[in-house]
Amino acid sequence: MKLWGGRFEAGPSEVFERFSGSLHFDKRLIDVDIRGSIAYASALKHVGILTTQERDELAAAFLAIQKDSQTPEFWQGAVDQGADEDVHTLVIRKLKERAGTLADKIHTGRSRNDQVSLDIRLWLREEIDATLKELLGLMSALVDMAKRDPTAIVAGYTHTRRAQPVLWPHYLLAYFEMFARDLERLKETRKRVDVMPLGSGAMAGSGFPFDRDAIAKDLGFASITRNSMDVSGDRDFALDFLHAANLTMLHLSRLAEDWILYSGEEYGWLELGDGVTSGSSIMPQKKNPDSLELIRGKCGGVFGDYSALFLTMKGLPMTYNRDMQEDKPRIFDAADQLRGSLEMARVVVETTRLNPARPLAAVEESWAVATDLADALARSGVPFHQAHKIVGRLVLESVRDSKKPADWTAQALAEFDPAFTADMARYVKPAEGIETRELPGGTGPKSVAKALADASTRLAEMNK
Ligand code: ARG
Repeated sequence: MKLWGGRFEAGPSEVFERFSGSLHFDKRLIDVDIRGSIAYASALKHVGILTTQERDELAAAFLAIQKDSQTPEFWQGAVDQGADEDVHTLVIRKLKERAGTLADKIHTGRSRNDQVSLDIRLWLREEIDATLKELLGLMSALVDMAKRDPTAIVAGYTHTRRAQPVLWPHYLLAYFEMFARDLERLKETRKRVDVMPLGSGAMAGSGFPFDRDAIAKDLGFASITRNSMDVSGDRDFALDFLHAANLTMLHLSRLAEDWILYSGEEYGWLELGDGVTSGSSIMPQKKNPDSLELIRGKCGGVFGDYSALFLTMKGLPMTYNRDMQEDKPRIFDAADQLRGSLEMARVVVETTRLNPARPLAAVEESWAVATDLADALARSGVPFHQAHKIVGRLVLESVRDSKKPADWTAQALAEFDPAFTADMARYVKPAEGIETRELPGGTGPKSVAKALADASTRLAEMNK
């Protein structure tokens, strides 16, 4: 069925129908399309286009269609044979089957342009809520993991080189912060999605005096859009969502990359759960981190979704253009990959265990405590650049003589350079330097314990 045709002498070519149809992807909007249409029927009643009885009749038909749509038979023919151009057309065809000519009134004053904007907003609103839940689940798993090894010391890296010792919970909480920002960003996005566009018509505003605030209230929207032309040409809210999805995927891909490395033989810090790893068809010993690799891999697809819609929208003349139909595959794909990746990451975090001896050995074998020694010198009055030079020479000599920090006694240090006083020798132990970093945001044990407790409180707050 078509929602147009009177002006044409010939129907669309088979190729064009196949090329332009969107039902195979926008069918996912059927529930929200029906919900929006029921609200629209009420709005039509208020402006006198439908009687109360007609409104009720249409609403009942819509609900019956919604129920039918859960059966496979409902979709037979519709998708494969291109019977309907899009989901909006399909729903109206089904409405005609049930309500006869009364169905011809439903599209009064409405365009698919404001209808599709409404549908995507309704769909995204629910999707964002589900994604927020999933994100909170991951954050909570990170906090639980941090609580499991509160005192474990690991190497922090810059340039993939051992940099400074940090507490393991400090590392995990760094990801907690990234995801906390992602949560805020998604909530911000939700605000921009939560605006009701119906009444905009094709682009000039509907020719019927709808109480748009009442429609918004009916559908649970916080407010109404302010300009009909803007509505018709706008997909900013979808791009906002894709941006939020992108940053979350970016954070997930970095976590995945870290853990792929940390669970490998070269690091040996983490043991991934059997349930999130796979074996090799030829190498019997393998336990591969496929779950994390796929999270990292899917990130590429979501970045692509963002670029695709961004470039589709670039330079479009006002207002609606059919190009915009290409928004939905991008939105759906990004939403699916994001939610799936968050869920996968949560299960990985829940089932991964730290082997604290290995990262501690990585710290002790290296000169990750060098900054702690230089800081100690600076605290005693040695200007930092001179302290840096002294410790740099100490590291150079140690590397030449294959000496580790623990090989240096207080006496040997004083002999190396008299600036080293007896009490500074304790900084060859990583735990000592960590204890000097007691400031908000630092890796000192008290600061980290507080940050961890705060994270739990914040989570409880965010879960409300
Ligand atoms: N399927 C279309 C879309 O998603 C609906 C809007 C069609 N509007 C139009 N003027 N052809 O964009």
